[in-house]
Amino acid sequence: MPVPGDRNLLDVLRTAVPDIDYSCGEGICGSCEWRVLERVPDHRDSVLPVVGRDRRDVIYPCVSRARSPTLTLNL
Ligand code: FES
Repeated sequence: MPVPGDRNLLDVLRTAVPDIDYSCGEGICGSCEWRVLERVPDHRDSVLPVVGRDRRDVIYPCVSRARSPTLTLNL
């Protein structure tokens, strides 16, 4: 599912999973945490500490995107 540059990943996910949890929408609360199965997230949130910025198993889709060409999530 492509994520256009003018939309965030959370918005696109909500078209497939309308009841996804989220709150702040700004990458600070952590409520939208989603499991990543494959590829590399581009963490733009403030939830992960500096030492966790290389994690590939979670993403906060309200602000973060894919660093790799694709990202496989656990829907
Ligand atoms: S909704 Fe708060 S971190 Fe995504």
